[in-house]
Order: sequence, then C-alpha cells, then structure tokens
Amino acid sequence: MRILFVGDVVGSPGRDMVQQYLPKLKQKYQPHISIINGENAASGKGINEKIYKNFLAWGAQAVTMGNHTWDKKEIFEFIDDAKNMVRPANFPEGTPGKGLIFIKYNSFEVAIINLQGRTFMPPLDDPFRKADELIEEAKKRTNLIFVDFHAEATSEKLAMAWYLDGKVSAVIGTHTHIQTADERVLPKGTAYLTDVGMTGPYDTILGMEKEAVIKKFLTSLPVRFEVPKDGRTQLSAVIIDIDQNSGQANKIERVLINDDHPFFS
Ligand SMILES: [Fe+2]
Repeated sequence: MRILFVGDVVGSPGRDMVQQYLPKLKQKYQPHISIINGENAASGKGINEKIYKNFLAWGAQAVTMGNHTWDKKEIFEFIDDAKNMVRPANFPEGTPGKGLIFIKYNSFEVAIINLQGRTFMPPLDDPFRKADELIEEAKKRTNLIFVDFHAEATSEKLAMAWYLDGKVSAVIGTHTHIQTADERVLPKGTAYLTDVGMTGPYDTILGMEKEAVIKKFLTSLPVRFEVPKDGRTQLSAVIIDIDQNSGQANKIERVLINDDHPFFS
C-alpha cells in the first residue's frame, strides 16, 4: 500500500500546483491513496466546498484539516456531508465533522486520523489520549492507519510519533509550512516526518506575502497577511510504503518541487 500525502495547500497558487502536479506524481509514484491537507486552501485560511470537491476530482481520496478548519463559514454547510474530509479529532465534543475516516482501496481500508497539537496553539482536548481512542476504533477494521498531526512544536510531533510507534502506519506533521529532512521509519514500523511542508507560493513567508510579514516583525503593528496571486510556486509531499497486512511502514520518501528542486517524471 502506497500513500501520497500533499502538505498544506495555500490559496490559488497551491491549488494550481495540486491540479498540475497531482496527476504527474500519481503517474510517477503510483500511490493507491492520495491525501491533501487543505486547511489553508481558500485564500490561505480554511476551505470551501468547491475546493474540497476539486481536490477529489483532481485525484485525491481524502482531505485533512487543522486550526483553520472553521475560517470559511461555508464549512458548516457541507462538512457533515463531506465523507472524505477529516478535521482534528481532538476538537471539543459536539464539533461538526469527523476526526477519523476510512478510505477504501480494493479490499483494503485506510483509516485517516487528523489531530492537532496543543503546544503554542489554542487549547484543545489531549491529542495523545484521543489518538489511543481512535486507534482502538480503527483497529477493529484495519491495520492501515495514517495520522496527520497538525502541530507547531517539533517536540510534540516527535512525542506523538514515538508514542504511536507500532500502533499506526504513519505520523506525518503539518502546519509549520516548512519541510523538515528527518523522514524515517521508527523501530516498530511507524513512518515519521516532522513536517511535510507547504504547497503554494514559493517566494513568501509560509505562503503569505513577505513584505507584510516583515512589516509585522519590524513594527508589531496589525498587518493583513495575503497570499500573493502570482510568482513562483512549490509543492511539498511525502510518499509512504506500508505492508498492507501488518500496517507497518517500510519506506518514507519526501517530495519537494520548486525551482531549486525541479521535478523529474
Ligand atoms: Fe495550520
């Protein structure tokens, strides 16, 4: 079982990269399941139904979210019907949407879990104990379990990976928008990467116009962050190979496409 996971898609430049490169990546790597983190896909904050449906039409089977899940109010109108969308499972009880979904591939099912960290982020339920709960539920159906851990702190992400080593197929970090180079398979078979990185405008600060971010640092004044409409773009992703019976990962490979890291088909 091979999974392709594309990191935080930011605005229209990120969506254009997905539309352009997802077919090429699928052709090159032949993944069985493709997943996209889409929490920044609508102008940098949140997602709408059209974008969600486009991601599925362009070849993804699941869309994961994060702290920007509710930023576009339209989400409340479609999230309960969005069977392929998963939002952080440790949002408070009673929150719309699902934190665990199952995606079928032939006779196999992949459980997809989204969790959000608490370090340097808004307070939420404990993601570690929520992970225990959801893994127990998922294991009744499948050993193939993919976790998108949307978190800021490297330590919290690593702690989650070691906590879940041997219990899930992969713990992949999102949210920081910078790809880390620490991909590995932990001793008990869990693939790990601290952050898969951002898909969107390249000559920016985490996907936002750099001038505004620099002004914020220089002045501490309130500044409006915008996704630039044009300019160079990039795509960040990861490929994970998993033994389809045991659910243990045996390989993880980073993908980074930009002018400094050209794509070879
Ligand atoms: Fe985020």
